[in-house]
Amino acid sequence: MQTGSSYRAVAASLSFRILRILLLSVLGTAAILGGRYGYELRMERLEADYGGGGQRAFSRPGRNAPYIQSVDAVVAKMIQIGTIKPDDVVYDLGCGDGRLVIAAAVKYGCRGIGFDIEESRVAEARENVTRAGVEHLVEIRQQDIFTVDLKDADVVLMYLLPWMNRKLIPQFEAMQPGSRIVSHDFGLGDIVDLPSDKTEQVVVEEDDSIHLIHMWKTPLKIR
Ligand SMILES: C[S@@+](CC[C@H](N)C(=O)[O-])C[C@H]1O[C@@H](n2cnc3c(N)ncnc32)[C@H](O)[C@@H]1O
Repeated sequence: MQTGSSYRAVAASLSFRILRILLLSVLGTAAILGGRYGYELRMERLEADYGGGGQRAFSRPGRNAPYIQSVDAVVAKMIQIGTIKPDDVVYDLGCGDGRLVIAAAVKYGCRGIGFDIEESRVAEARENVTRAGVEHLVEIRQQDIFTVDLKDADVVLMYLLPWMNRKLIPQFEAMQPGSRIVSHDFGLGDIVDLPSDKTEQVVVEEDDSIHLIHMWKTPLKIR
């Protein structure tokens, strides 16, 4: 027979377990909601700062991607999710200061080409290539990304805008089967339904912001 004190002990232990489950559920839900909110809020801020006003101005065609750098944690995830091998050729579309293609060359010893339309970005990227000692691996070209032939690229890295990603789809279709396309923040356009093969979230500690990194393998599964 159970005594009054052992009933109390069982009840206390049960209450403790229930409380723990409740607490973990609340924390889990808050983390998930916090992540979504964090990403949405960041998109709203980007829209306000760079989108030219209006709802989802980012998605509207015609406006080139402004220069916003991918931070180190995002760069690391982009080159990791692209499963880059030393014999791969990596193209960086809208390379800015060249950080993505340079990081890939330094880490994996692969070759790469960075493309940017802005003369000052190209000059800066070339300096960074030299500073990183990867001139034998990385070339920087001043070129509009919509004129780049992607058939020799094993991995494409980009941080552009949704309409630009969408417009690039015919160029992606020229890539060899098994190639990878990696995009910071944005999907492959908002008209065609093109779910990624993998999407990972990066939380940037400096400002607690949430970034999404998407990866698609070619051939793209366009229905
Ligand atoms: C958001 S920044 C990304 C920079 C870098 N890839 C990074 O992740 O840190 C976009 C870059 O794309 C370049 N860009 C925009 N439109 C372009 C175009 N049509 N052709 C080539 N580069 C372009 C901009 O000059 C800018 O450097």
